[in-house]
Amino acid sequence: MAAAETYEAVHVEKEGGITWLMINRPDKRNAMSPQVHLEMDAVLDDLAVDSATEILVLTGAGNSFCAGQDSKLYFRANAGDPAARHKLRRASNNWRWQKLSTFPKPTIAMVNGYCFGGAFTQVTACDIALAADDAMFGLSEVNWGILPGGIVPWNVAQTMNYRDALHYAMTGDSFDGKQAQQMGFVDFSYPKEKLREETIKLAKKLMEKSPATLCFTKEAIRAVRFMNEPQAADYLAAKSDALRFNDKEHSREEGMKQFLDEKSYRPGYGHFKRKRVSA
Ligand code: COA
Repeated sequence: MAAAETYEAVHVEKEGGITWLMINRPDKRNAMSPQVHLEMDAVLDDLAVDSATEILVLTGAGNSFCAGQDSKLYFRANAGDPAARHKLRRASNNWRWQKLSTFPKPTIAMVNGYCFGGAFTQVTACDIALAADDAMFGLSEVNWGILPGGIVPWNVAQTMNYRDALHYAMTGDSFDGKQAQQMGFVDFSYPKEKLREETIKLAKKLMEKSPATLCFTKEAIRAVRFMNEPQAADYLAAKSDALRFNDKEHSREEGMKQFLDEKSYRPGYGHFKRKRVSA
């Protein structure tokens, strides 16, 4: 596996528990080349077990989040090579969905600019999505004569209103960050100059909470979406027990003690004081 410093098409910056992970092809509007996929596939494995990474922020270098698959290097260059296509499709889906949606720490997509086609998958895979007001989103595939790529139709059918998903996929019309917030595709949209500051604010808020509780909570929300009620009830009871067993900070006991005995906080207004233990 390549060391973080050797990555070229992706860039990693770590500061104060936040890891900024960027596609680093600003001159190509961060279109996803084969190299992007292979490097992202590797770097996410590193970061998943990296103790300096408490929160992962996915964004893009320059003025673009990601302009979708690189039509030249991902599609055209491999058109006659089924083996290469297979390998790249695997890497592309692995990092954008499997690895990102099951990442063991909170993930934030910070959509700083263009966000097209295949990039909708990694936005959906992140736990929380923030956008610049003037970010430009588009399911432009219909303008190329192709279907939205990979699992994008599945992603938008789940995160967008049914009518919006059909409308934007069929027209290829773009929409901005504010519209993305209105339709629930992102959580919040901010003026561009505030986006990073708001992202850091959110990351810091999440870092005050129990990491094990956050990890189990996001896993639970994702899993129950595909269950019926009896399955969900059974799964959640077991998940809850598993959290108590796995939480090295003993958050439940700590929270109860601080609320009931010490009366030092109220859960309705904010979090208890974490008893941090090293990973
Ligand atoms: N695949 C390959 N190259 C891409 C790309 C993509 N998806 N998106 C941008 N690029 C390249 C351009 O070809 C150009 O390369 P060049 O400098 O060698 O000519 C460079 O990135 C800059 O793009 P440009 O179009 O000049 O920038 P812009 O700021 O005027 O427009 C976009 C930005 C994102 C609106 C425009 O590039 C675009 O529509 N890209 C395609 C987006 C898309 O449909 N993605 C889905 C792919 S399935």
